[in-house]
Amino acid sequence: MRRLYVFDTTLRDGEQSLGITLNVKEKLEIGQQLVKLGVDVIEAGFPASSPGDLESVRTIAKELKGVIICGLTRAVVQDIDLCAEALRKAEYPRIHTGIGVSPVHMEKKLKLTPDQVVEQAVAAVKYAKKYVSDVEFYAEDAFRSDPIFLARVIENVISAGATVVNIPDTVGYANPWEYGELIQSVIQNVNNIDKAIVSVHCHNDLGMATANSLAGIKAGAGQVEGTINGIGERAGNTSLEEVIMSIYTRRDGYGVESKVNTREISATSRLVSRITGVTVPDHKAIVGANAFNHASGIHQDGVLKDRETYEIIQPETIGVPKNFISLTARSGRHALQHCLEELGYKVEGAQLDDVYQRFLQLADLKKEVFDQDLYVLMGDSGSTA
Ligand code: KIV
Ligand code: ZN
Repeated sequence: MRRLYVFDTTLRDGEQSLGITLNVKEKLEIGQQLVKLGVDVIEAGFPASSPGDLESVRTIAKELKGVIICGLTRAVVQDIDLCAEALRKAEYPRIHTGIGVSPVHMEKKLKLTPDQVVEQAVAAVKYAKKYVSDVEFYAEDAFRSDPIFLARVIENVISAGATVVNIPDTVGYANPWEYGELIQSVIQNVNNIDKAIVSVHCHNDLGMATANSLAGIKAGAGQVEGTINGIGERAGNTSLEEVIMSIYTRRDGYGVESKVNTREISATSRLVSRITGVTVPDHKAIVGANAFNHASGIHQDGVLKDRETYEIIQPETIGVPKNFISLTARSGRHALQHCLEELGYKVEGAQLDDVYQRFLQLADLKKEVFDQDLYVLMGDSGSTA
């Protein structure tokens, strides 16, 4: 098994979501929970972006121990100086610096030639190395770059001292087999790649961030970057909980293992949602309210006989105490009987048939039938067990 390092960027790329601005206290609270979750790296912010973010990174670096604390910079000395200052009290500091490498980023945004980009990338890594030994380099928009040029940039930054090389699909344009091939091409064509960890960083514009990250891991990446609940700019980032649980569900874990404590996933998701104000859709994989909720008769009957019929993950694994059987117009007798039993009613045979008919009439009028409705249906008839 290869070790997979988990890099959480909820507090940096996640915070770039429209409508989220986290203050120092909020970032620290999320950071403390991320430590409980057992991530390897917390990207605490982008210190040069605002005085508030500088202060957040400084506070997190001082308070959170036993984990790598990372700050983002552009490949410019002012950013790196500020980041290094913010990380001064970190037990394990990492500077994450980088530059755009795709034609559109180099020509239109940076107005630099490819040679100038290589020069600036190398200079930034060398400059960051004066402050910290752990320097991660991001090749922004790597997926839309020329793979030969990308390999040249990566080889040069590793020679300059980069310990981790991040190959982002910044605009979420890749599909899994293409992204897997890009990671493979970096690993094959960069001569000194054994001196650094390859990191995958995907965005979800086409809904493929998790799949692309897994493809990159399968191709040999040793670090995955993402956010809790998949929050992030535009359509968001890779959902870390999805990647972690995808690996968990496989006996061979796709050949990798992380040190994440999956039982903290639900608590982390709820905290991030509460503090950011970004609600998790009910049907969201792993952490949505319906992820362990069975609503239709055939599924409910199956789950009541054996959970494995319709559950690929036991809810307890992510810290959810139990699964749910929700009563709807699609529920069958078995589910109704089970829910009544949980309320203390033992109903069988003709009585069950009668209650079931009345239940269906009610269920057709409502989205969901709750315990309170069941009490009314039973009419306090004295038939409790
Ligand atoms: O998506 C991206 O390219 C990034 C980098 C700044 C790491 O977030
Ligand atoms: Zn990103």
